[in-house]
Amino acid sequence: MPQLCSLDVPAGAELADLLFERGVELPCGGASLCGGCRVRVVEGDIAVTPDMQAVLTPQEVAAGWRLACQARARGRVTLEIEQWEGPILGDESRVAFEAREGFGIAVDLGTTTIVAQLLDFATGEVLAVRTALNPQCAHGADVMSRVQFALREPRVLTCSIRQGLAALVHDVAGDRKVSEVLLCGNTVMHHLFCGEEVEPLSHVPFETPAGGMREFIAEDLGWKLGSACRVRFLPCLGSFVGSDILAGMVALDWLARDALVALIDLGTNGEIVIGNRRGALCASTAAGPAFEAGRIGMGMRAAPGAISRVVPKDGGFECHVLGARAPRGICGSGLVDAAAAALHMGRILPTGRLANGTQELELMPPVSITQSDIRELQLAKGAIAAGLRILLERCGATLHQLDRVYLAGAFGNYVNTASARRIGLLELGPENIEPAGNTALRGTKMLLLAPSRRSALVEQIGRLTQHVSLASDPHFQDAFVDCMRF
Ligand code: FES
Repeated sequence: MPQLCSLDVPAGAELADLLFERGVELPCGGASLCGGCRVRVVEGDIAVTPDMQAVLTPQEVAAGWRLACQARARGRVTLEIEQWEGPILGDESRVAFEAREGFGIAVDLGTTTIVAQLLDFATGEVLAVRTALNPQCAHGADVMSRVQFALREPRVLTCSIRQGLAALVHDVAGDRKVSEVLLCGNTVMHHLFCGEEVEPLSHVPFETPAGGMREFIAEDLGWKLGSACRVRFLPCLGSFVGSDILAGMVALDWLARDALVALIDLGTNGEIVIGNRRGALCASTAAGPAFEAGRIGMGMRAAPGAISRVVPKDGGFECHVLGARAPRGICGSGLVDAAAAALHMGRILPTGRLANGTQELELMPPVSITQSDIRELQLAKGAIAAGLRILLERCGATLHQLDRVYLAGAFGNYVNTASARRIGLLELGPENIEPAGNTALRGTKMLLLAPSRRSALVEQIGRLTQHVSLASDPHFQDAFVDCMRF
């Protein structure tokens, strides 16, 4: 799905800078080597430079393709951003439903992407799906930068997400009369959508009194879905653990589980819950953006041209590139594989240092990973592994007593579990790790289709689940340093 971006380039501003601020990545650092920052001019004008001609074919240039890193423009331009074309994880599974008349929409409101599904209450069927990038991405890639922006510019992000979602729900509803929209999302998405104060989330102990279930009349949000339509946002579980995890617990039928299980969302804000039907502990941990290939020199989303798989071969690396394209960057799953392969070959030491004084590991020209990329990955995997260790200690259990670890979200769906084990992200056998898809959307859909049981389910999970603040745990820092080693 092509993703468009329209912007005004004021005098004195560089288009490349504006695009970078909006999340367009520059895989080779803007050196005009990789072509990974390609954008297509749909409206307006961007001059062709010799650097662009060296990377793009004459046919591509004629079709309007340019390099974002070299782009100069004045006035208004509308661009198709190739990097943003990657797939967004939906959920096609059929779930139990209480048959009734009418239609509803389930929404997974993610920090980066949004998925909306139109559901037929009579049949439980998914009638339509729409996906989009979160329009707030223009104001920061992760939850903390959104919080900081919201502190400086109150209401801007609330308006932007309500308007962005209006377009999405109108589109997915078509001419169907929708009576309810049910949303889930992390705590920051919840607060920004609901217009709650984000200040408590900007400092220790990151506790907010406003994480409860919220209800709106659709018309009051400016959504044209009929006067009877209600919009509800599911409640957060505590601090940065949001209703995406609560919905994930519903999707995994948590209240019927006897064995000890864990659900982990491996994102910038890593969310973890472990337990069973008798009790659960949840926590969030600042993993940084490495799993989404953020702050990685040649990192990019899992889109065409991204190296997504790496295995050791004949003393070097064999790489799989998405979309049968020339490589132009590396995504999160490729990075985990590359580190695992390099450890296997002794080219990365257990401390994380590159062996033999090397500065970088060349994977497939022009893509390589550097010492600082490895360090970002260590920070991310250290935060998750340490968070899991602390929660297990609090439960009086060990990793090997976990019956199963479910990985939620896009990265969890695509990461190679053997590589995740090799780098020490999850030191369990592949038979104990299960990619669970978009559990947030599935659980929200299940709750939307079960109106008579919804409140009881949500309340029971809320009562059962206790939030643990890792920031104030005296053992977390030691565990984190320990878990950073490979
Ligand atoms: S060519 Fe523009 S970032 Fe590589």
